[in-house]
Amino acid sequence: MKSIIDNQSLEKTGIERLQWFRDMMPLVDSINDYLDNEQIFKGKIIAICMHIEPKTAVWIEGILRGGAKHIYLVGCLGTTKEDTAAYLASLDRMTVLGKKNDTYEDHQNYLTQVMDHKIDLFLDNGASLILAHDRLKPDWTPIGANEETRSGKLLIEKEKVSPDYPVVVIDDSPVKQLLENAIGVGQSVVDGFMRATSLLLGGKQVLVIGYGFCGSGVAKKFKGQGANVMVYDLNPTIRLKAKADGYYVDDLPEVIKKADVIITVTGSFDVIRPDHIKYFKPNVILANSGHYSFEIDVKGLKEKASVTRVKKDIEKLTFTDKSCYLIADASPVNLACGDGNPIEIMDLGLGLQSASAIRILETDNQLKKGLQAVPVDIDKKISIDMMAILK
Ligand SMILES: NC(=O)c1ccc[n+]([C@@H]2O[C@H](COP(=O)([O-])OP(=O)(O)OC[C@H]3O[C@@H](n4cnc5c(N)ncnc54)[C@H](O)[C@@H]3O)[C@@H](O)[C@H]2O)c1
Repeated sequence: MKSIIDNQSLEKTGIERLQWFRDMMPLVDSINDYLDNEQIFKGKIIAICMHIEPKTAVWIEGILRGGAKHIYLVGCLGTTKEDTAAYLASLDRMTVLGKKNDTYEDHQNYLTQVMDHKIDLFLDNGASLILAHDRLKPDWTPIGANEETRSGKLLIEKEKVSPDYPVVVIDDSPVKQLLENAIGVGQSVVDGFMRATSLLLGGKQVLVIGYGFCGSGVAKKFKGQGANVMVYDLNPTIRLKAKADGYYVDDLPEVIKKADVIITVTGSFDVIRPDHIKYFKPNVILANSGHYSFEIDVKGLKEKASVTRVKKDIEKLTFTDKSCYLIADASPVNLACGDGNPIEIMDLGLGLQSASAIRILETDNQLKKGLQAVPVDIDKKISIDMMAILK
């Protein structure tokens, strides 16, 4: 099956850019050596849905070295780096399905094509593969799956899908929650926002919607840059926590009215919708850092606006009496406008992915079926190994 990517001539740029990431990912590097020595993935056909970017590429190199017979890689929406896709597509035993501006329909089409092949292992993000398997019901079942993120777990539960195979939820690992979500995402969201806008953050009224692991980190990092941060969360206890942490908290319409910048990070859809336009300050900037762009009802907002591009990654939506700005079509701002989470953080996160995949294959389906957290011993081992690396 041929790759579908933007531009194969970017392969050399993709290769050149990768060395820095390889050098800065010692945990994945050591696991990649282990995969190679033990040939953990020998003969296995693996479907991966992940952000196509350099850190993912370093991790995928290990899966290939570990003997995978073939990898089908589907990109996540709005976050594909064209040069990384070109590099990966140039490798043997790889099919890459991901373009920078893929639509939801393109994404679904790729997933349908992947399901035509008998897959041994899913390494999923946002439950794309798991939901496609449930929807299309091919006559095979994978040995198991990893699901990377909160949104994926929420979708599996919302759609009442009961996978007939083990699904290790990487996001249920304290390592991921406490390091990637609470620390890494905040730093990279501020970075992505600044790269997209080049604006001063000091003095801006920034509204963070969703104050979970990611949102609390996003709020903290914006506050650290001098922004006046406001928080809204559906959960009243979490709102209270945000208030006790020192943020301005009020009902959603009240905080929207005050906001210069609104960032969604909830795992829910349509958190900002056309019926909120009446509360918008003129020229409010909208961005998302949740997994799916649907946290902002972009289609609904655009139907009510004339749309002009004012900068790479920024569109101006002009309504009858005011305008707003939308960053990267609400794709996760840290990945769409920057390089995603800090390298050390993804060294950990992708290390968890590999260790969980090894467990699924080594135990040969002895894990229980359905959703489950990363085994506790894996969390401990990854934390100890990372601590040794950071010393
Ligand atoms: N951009 C990235 O790099 C990145 C990395 C990790 C996770 N994520 C994504 O970020 C999102 C949040 O993840 P998390 O780990 O913080 O989850 P979480 O469950 O810890 O927190 C989500 C919070 O949002 C609140 N919430 C849900 N729906 C809401 C709504 N409609 N309005 C207001 N608040 C609402 C919940 O009450 C909860 O407190 C998910 O989509 C996850 O997949 C993104």
